[in-house]
Amino acid sequence: MEQRVKGCSALRGEVTPPGDKSISHRAVILNSVAQGRAKVGNFSPGEDCLATVTCLRELGVEITEESRGMLIISGVGEKGFREPKDVLNAGNSGTTMRLLAGLLASQSFLSIITGDESLRSRPMARVIHPLRLMGAQIWGRGGDSLAPLAIKGSRLQGIEYRLPVASAQLKSAILIAALFAQGDTTVEEPAPSRDHTERMLRAMGAELQSDGSKVTLAPKSTPPSPLDLDIPGDISSAAFWLIAGAIHPNAKIRITNAGVNPTRTGIIEVLLEMGAKLGIENERIVGGEPVADITVESSHLVGKQIEGSIIPKLIDEIPLIAVAGCVARGTTIIRDAAELRVKETDRIAATVMELSKLGADIEELPDGVVIHGGKALQGGECFSHHDHRLAMTLGVAALIARGETVIHDAEVVAVSYPAFWQDLERLTSQ
Ligand code: S3P
Repeated sequence: MEQRVKGCSALRGEVTPPGDKSISHRAVILNSVAQGRAKVGNFSPGEDCLATVTCLRELGVEITEESRGMLIISGVGEKGFREPKDVLNAGNSGTTMRLLAGLLASQSFLSIITGDESLRSRPMARVIHPLRLMGAQIWGRGGDSLAPLAIKGSRLQGIEYRLPVASAQLKSAILIAALFAQGDTTVEEPAPSRDHTERMLRAMGAELQSDGSKVTLAPKSTPPSPLDLDIPGDISSAAFWLIAGAIHPNAKIRITNAGVNPTRTGIIEVLLEMGAKLGIENERIVGGEPVADITVESSHLVGKQIEGSIIPKLIDEIPLIAVAGCVARGTTIIRDAAELRVKETDRIAATVMELSKLGADIEELPDGVVIHGGKALQGGECFSHHDHRLAMTLGVAALIARGETVIHDAEVVAVSYPAFWQDLERLTSQ
C-alpha cells in the first residue's frame, strides 16, 4: 500500500496511543508461565503481539479475546506447556523470538522458532550464548547466529551474566529462563534498559532485586501468580505525535493514557532539552507502571547532542528525533546508537536515505547521525524499508514538508500501530 501525506496547515486534537507493545508481550508470556487465570486489558492490537499470542497458543496455552483488546489467559505453570506441532512463527517481532527463546530453554521438548526475512537477519547469538551457559540446548542458522532457532530445553542453572549491549529483550529472555533454574541469576547491563519484565515479575510475586543496571532473580518452587492488568498506551507510539506537535508551526495535541516509565521517557527528556512545549498531567500508576496525559504544542527547537546512557531509553524513537533535528536550530548529533543497525532494518542507513529524499541535511555516522537543522523539507517519494517505525517517522516528516509525500509499503504500521494513518488523518482535519 502507498500512503500519500500532504503538508498540513494545522495539527489539533486528542489521541490515545495503542497499548504498549513491550508490556503486552510480557503480560501474555508471563501470565502463560503463571498458574491460573489472568485478565489483561488494552492489549496491543499490533501484529507483533499477536505473533506472541499465536506462538503461546501453539504451546498449549488457552488465550481468548473476551472483548476488543481484553485477553483472558489461562496460565499453565512451568510444566503445562506442550511441544508445538509445527514451527513457531515470530513474524517481524524480535521481542517474541528472544523472550520465547528464554521460555523454551526450560522446556524439555523440541521447538523451532522462525520469523520473517527481517527477523531472520537479526542477531541471535546474543540470546543463544547465555541460554547455553544456563544449560539449554539451542542452535541457530549461520553458525548459531541467526534464526530459525532450534531449542531443546533442559533443567537450567542460574548464571551471572554481563550483557554485551543494553537490551531489554536479552535481559528478559534470561530472566524468564531463570524463573525455573536452579540457583540465582544475575544480569548486568552496560546501561539500564526498559524494566517492564522486572516490574511485572515483582507484581507476580517473584523474588527480584534490581538497582538500575543489575538485576538478580531468585527462583521459587511455585510459579508466578497470575496478574490482571490494564496495559498503558505505548510511549513509543505517542512519540510520533509528541514530535509532530513540537515541530509543526500550528499544532496543539493532547495524548491520553501514555506510559511514562522512566526507562522509556528519553524522548520526553530530549524534547524538553530541545525547548519543546510539553505538559505532563494526571500522573498515575496503572498496573505497576506510571501513566500520564501529555500535551504538546508548536515549539522552537534547538539542536542537541544525544549520547551515552540515555540511548536505551529512546532507542526506538531515534529516527523521529532525527526529524526534529531537521527543524531545530543548529546541529543535532546522535551517537552510541549502533544497535539501530540491527533493528527491523538498518535504521541509521534507512533514516538517512529516506530523510535525504525529503531534503534533510543528514549524515550517517557508524553509531548515529548528524543533522544540520533549519532546512525546509519538501515532499518526495519514500520507502518504509518494511519497518513500521520508519513508515510512521516519514508520515510525521511529511506533515511539515511542502507538497505531497508518497510512502511506499506503508501498511507495515500494523506491526505496532494499526490505526496510525487514521489518527494522522483525524489530527490534520480538525
Ligand atoms: C524491546 C526492547 C528493545 C526495543 C524493542 C522492544 C522490548 O529492543 O528496541 O522495540 O520489548 O524488550 P532491544 O532489547 O533489542 O534493545
